[in-house]
Amino acid sequence: MSSIPRSGAARSRLRRGLAAMAVAALGSTLAVANATAANAAVACDVTYAVNEWTSSPGTGGFTANVTIKNTGDALSDWTLRFAFPNAGQQVSQGWSATWSQSGANVTAVAMDWNRSLATNATVSIGFNGTWSGSNPRPTAFSVNGVTCGGTPSPSPSPSPSPSPSPSPSPSPSPSPSPSPSPSPSPSPSPSPSPSPSPSPSPSPSPSPSIPPEPPGPRVDNPYAGATGYVNPDWAASARSEPGGAAVANTSTAIWLDRIAAISSGSAGNNSKGLRDHLDLAVEQDAANGSQALTIQVVVYNLPNRDCSALASNGELLISQNGLNRYKTEYIDVIAGIMADPKYRNLRIVAIIEIDSLPNLVTNLNLAKCQEAKTSGAYEQGVAYALGKLYAIPNVYNYVDAGHHGWLGWDTNFGPSSQLFASTAAMATGGRNTVHGFITNTANYSALVEPYFTINSTVNGQTIRQSRWVDWNFYVDELSYAQAFRNRLIQDGFPSNIGMLIDTSRNGWGGPNRPTGPSTSTDMNTFVNQSKIDRRIHAGNWCNQSGAGLGERPRANPAPGIDAYVWVKPPGESDGSSSAIPNDEGKGFDRMCDPTYGGNERNGNSATGALPNAPVSGHWFSAQFRELLANAYPPL
Ligand code: BGC
Repeated sequence: MSSIPRSGAARSRLRRGLAAMAVAALGSTLAVANATAANAAVACDVTYAVNEWTSSPGTGGFTANVTIKNTGDALSDWTLRFAFPNAGQQVSQGWSATWSQSGANVTAVAMDWNRSLATNATVSIGFNGTWSGSNPRPTAFSVNGVTCGGTPSPSPSPSPSPSPSPSPSPSPSPSPSPSPSPSPSPSPSPSPSPSPSPSPSPSPSPSPSIPPEPPGPRVDNPYAGATGYVNPDWAASARSEPGGAAVANTSTAIWLDRIAAISSGSAGNNSKGLRDHLDLAVEQDAANGSQALTIQVVVYNLPNRDCSALASNGELLISQNGLNRYKTEYIDVIAGIMADPKYRNLRIVAIIEIDSLPNLVTNLNLAKCQEAKTSGAYEQGVAYALGKLYAIPNVYNYVDAGHHGWLGWDTNFGPSSQLFASTAAMATGGRNTVHGFITNTANYSALVEPYFTINSTVNGQTIRQSRWVDWNFYVDELSYAQAFRNRLIQDGFPSNIGMLIDTSRNGWGGPNRPTGPSTSTDMNTFVNQSKIDRRIHAGNWCNQSGAGLGERPRANPAPGIDAYVWVKPPGESDGSSSAIPNDEGKGFDRMCDPTYGGNERNGNSATGALPNAPVSGHWFSAQFRELLANAYPPL
């Protein structure tokens, strides 16, 4: 339908993802649990992973990460109970559940956002505690009154004891609160760490006998209080252009756009691989004072990649064992490197598979996308990546969520959110593996249209009927990202997911930027004269003429938004303007050809692409210069 230029949009490539917070907890009051459990067969498995340390002889602290797996019927609520074997064991502060302790008995009640637990779903919760004497594990766990580890019990026989819900936990956030005391030693030491729990454990007090602090728990917003990794290669390209030094120290993402990109030397002798970048990130982290450092890595190599376009086609094909190769030669290798303990103090943001899932919603008329859908390869690949990367406690997954000019119509918006939810549910760790979503990746959609909103009217008629808006429900990325976040939460993602918006090239400044709303009373003239997004059609995505650098990266710029980020490194081409032979699997997409008249996905409009562009990912000096000149905010 015309309203769905799935296209232009469809093709754009930015996206962002969402990452779920660390964990979910379940539980709620017993009364509710009873109601739920009345017809449900409750069955569960609990794992209890402990990382403990000694602060003085006979006493110490510990972090327990507790994973509850629902092996019975779906639960709409849950409460976990267990007892400490020793009198000296005490919960001090927990997360992802409301924790309380009475004598030896510990209760964890689900939070609103993680109380429903599907069959076979898991929820991860945890707490910090102290011990004296020794710290043995609890021997039995129950959920809604049913002992875990057995066979499903049709009758939950909930204990009648009232749930001690008023929890002393000071932190409603699912992520554990920051370490109460500075780590005595940031460098790894071989001292005994009884359990290699992947999760964090704040050390209670500095003492030489304390083992090195394990990776911090995931923070709510990995961009807050952190500096961003500056890729020296991109910085050098930027600096080589007149005026480029003004932005050369900006953090941009590392794109792992093929298996070889993981290793050093894949693009020439001195080209950097993932380890090289992470090593440099550790150096930059050491040099930035007490701030954390965030490095962004784009995971972009699904089989049948870029199935609705050609400019960024990849090396793997579904028909040639691509999904298995993706898992074993790509994701496993990346995860192996990121898990190296020497990187554990970095905040690694993984941007997951630009443009992949949205193509399964809007572009199934194209054979390569159809194959991606019917084979399950995109969904399985994304779920695999989410689970593998989430297992590394300092990695934050953000999933691509297209952009407003692609998914902003209701026919695309809800189905995309549902597809993201069902895909993430397949990951090991479920939807908690998603920390957030990213929109506008490598696209040009304006962050905010200052001179009209979706509710504006011209002559009493909604602006939605203009040719530019074309019945979309959003006119810009900020309104879209915030609304999409709400929808994702409604569809089952944790309520603390955060959004990223790629603002690398959506500035739209320079001489052609409108300075106020048009005074025209003609609908299309009003919109065309008022909009700051100067594209010919919102479905245009390749090397857009007239674009400028957008908002510089920063954390917490607006409610629900974790950060504005530069994921697409400005100056790197979106695709070649004519066919150029290459060994990267890149095709020639006519949407990058300024002489092409377009296709159904951009309303058969001119492409607005700059001429003489190199293959995608290669440096495009003329574009970078234009982006600098049209930067908004101005440089
Ligand atoms: C290309 C990648 C490149 C990335 C960042 C994508 O369009 O396909 O090869 O790394 O852009 O420039």
